[in-house]
Amino acid sequence: MQKSLISSAQLTKEFVFEVFTLADEIKENPEKYANSLSGKVITTLFFEPSTRTRLSFESALQRLGAKLLTVENGLLNSSANKGESIQDTIRIVQGYSDGIIMRHSENNASEIALEVAKVPIINAGDGSGEHPTQSLLDLYTIQTRKKSLNNLSIAFIGDLKFGRTVHSLVKSLSLFKNNRIYGVSSKEFELPNTYLDWLASNNITYIPLKTIDEIPKDIDVLYQTRVQTERFKEPVIPYEPLILNKNTFKRFNQKTILMHPLPRNEEIHTDVDNDPRAIYFEQSQNGLYVRMALLHLLLH
Ligand code: NCD
Repeated sequence: MQKSLISSAQLTKEFVFEVFTLADEIKENPEKYANSLSGKVITTLFFEPSTRTRLSFESALQRLGAKLLTVENGLLNSSANKGESIQDTIRIVQGYSDGIIMRHSENNASEIALEVAKVPIINAGDGSGEHPTQSLLDLYTIQTRKKSLNNLSIAFIGDLKFGRTVHSLVKSLSLFKNNRIYGVSSKEFELPNTYLDWLASNNITYIPLKTIDEIPKDIDVLYQTRVQTERFKEPVIPYEPLILNKNTFKRFNQKTILMHPLPRNEEIHTDVDNDPRAIYFEQSQNGLYVRMALLHLLLH
């Protein structure tokens, strides 16, 4: 495994399970890893808004003993605001730190960074491209709840076109056997061809649907997403047939789990939150341990 993580296409099954085993171990024995990154300075360089991703990375880094440099709201608060290129920013920041965790609004920002980087680069979300560390925590959440990553049925709902968490999870699910994927969206938000081709070349069944009501009620995983409104100039009106509430969720099996990368808007009503099948807050908490494990493996 390289020390940078740019796309879920880089993941192997072995590495995914190495991360999971270590995440479990860290959760049990955090003190054993408290100095894993001591002496290292790591930069979180965020050019787009974030709560979970940045704070869970920073919490993970602190818990592993690293020191932090952080740029939040980078388009305003870094030299990007003075017209500096991604390449030049990376050339500078790597002089001050031993690794860079970057979120950017451009789809290929982390690849551009990687071209000039001498320190590991971790993609924390690039435009409507990918979000590979989210896919690791999503896989981990599915594994802990379903005890397997094979033979599953998974429905992605909402913005499959711009949702980078969907893109990375679709790619990483292809590592496993016999999964069936449903893509539930309106016409404007369908999964782009690159990901459809990826699924086809990995022999994964993909079934496009238009409404939540069409999803089989014994589905294993519902993966709901918000419309990525920041990719549009005009406000986007929520599409009613894709909204989950107590009523539309009732129909599903007791073993169905409901995930969401968060933040949510109207696509999951709060009246679903107390249903034990709704596990999005647990999913987000898992991000801490998964990111600690990943950072230990890549940066130690
Ligand atoms: C996602 C993201 O930023 O892509 N959030 C996250 O990292 N948990 C999803 C989103 O913003 O809708």
